[in-house]
Amino acid sequence: EKGEFRHFMLKEIYEQPRVMQAVLEGRIASGHLLEQAFGAAAGAVFDQVKQVQIVACGTSFHAGMVAKYWIEEWVGIPCMVEVASEFRYRPVVLPRDTLLLTLSQSGETADTLAALRAVQDRVLATLAICNVPGSSLVRESDLSLMTNAGPEIGVASTKAFTSQLVALMLTTIALGRRHGLSGERETELVAALEQLPGLLQQLLALDGPIEEMSAHFAEKHHALFLGRNVLYPVAMEGALKLKEISYIHAEAYPAGELKHGPLALVDKEMPVIAVAPRNGMLDKLKANLQEVRARGGELFVFAGCDQSIQAQEGVHVIHLPALPAVLDPIAFTLPLQLLSYHVAVLKGTDVDQPRNLAKSVTVE
Ligand code: F6R
Repeated sequence: EKGEFRHFMLKEIYEQPRVMQAVLEGRIASGHLLEQAFGAAAGAVFDQVKQVQIVACGTSFHAGMVAKYWIEEWVGIPCMVEVASEFRYRPVVLPRDTLLLTLSQSGETADTLAALRAVQDRVLATLAICNVPGSSLVRESDLSLMTNAGPEIGVASTKAFTSQLVALMLTTIALGRRHGLSGERETELVAALEQLPGLLQQLLALDGPIEEMSAHFAEKHHALFLGRNVLYPVAMEGALKLKEISYIHAEAYPAGELKHGPLALVDKEMPVIAVAPRNGMLDKLKANLQEVRARGGELFVFAGCDQSIQAQEGVHVIHLPALPAVLDPIAFTLPLQLLSYHVAVLKGTDVDQPRNLAKSVTVE
């Protein structure tokens, strides 16, 4: 039931504060992760893991890419990420003490299942992060963590993605405990996670300004998304959302790659959307943005509240509310979801059932 909402996608975007509560429920308490959430056998597995291989498709793959940054930074063990349709068809090299982590909203994606089946006998253990209890992926994996996002009807994934990110942060904490992650840092991360429901509620207040911004895209045929570090996969996910539901050709690049090719495409017909990092990379991003401006490109910047990026001729800025840096990938996702939604509504596409796409890709 869509209730007051015009589309399931919008309803599901607006459900995210509640979904954040659902994915955290019973998984954290008194500033700590409750590791039992992964099942009784999980502790022994986590003790032995020396590297993580993530496999997924589409939006779930983008969640996996975010997790790579987290795992290598906070756990300090190698983490590889690959799309399932490639992984399953090549002779992959996997050390025995690998944790194979699959991500899937449906738990029925053919390529992801095939990737699991192809290597499950060669790894230490398999963990599925999934939204559908009892799905094939969950049944066939050693361990599982449900994202508890509730049924997702819109073909374009929204709440499933943000809940996967939370589940991945919980997984990172579980692994980090065995390695470099201090108890203090864990408490800090958990405290940040506890802010998520309220934070996403605040982010929804950006809906109006984002709807206004969307008018700039309705007549465009292309768009470029830029991000750095953990916001690079967020830019990829933003580009995927826009192309899926508005049929505008969109690509994402790590901001530093701009001058290595895509800058050649930039002119006034190519809007550039940047998700601005808050670390020392901001100055570099600003330099990229100037290059875009110099070529007449219109810029749309999503920035942290403390960032000194001012709106000016051809530069539109939306500031996010104050939030812990660790939540950036989750927080910056929501405004990008709203942007693609409003552009699609302006274009009059079938938002919940984009052409040529199926919600669950159970065949190759
Ligand atoms: C994008 C989208 C798809 C899915 C992909 C994997 O909005 O929905 O890219 O993310 O088909 O599906 P799951 O997560 O069910 O394995």
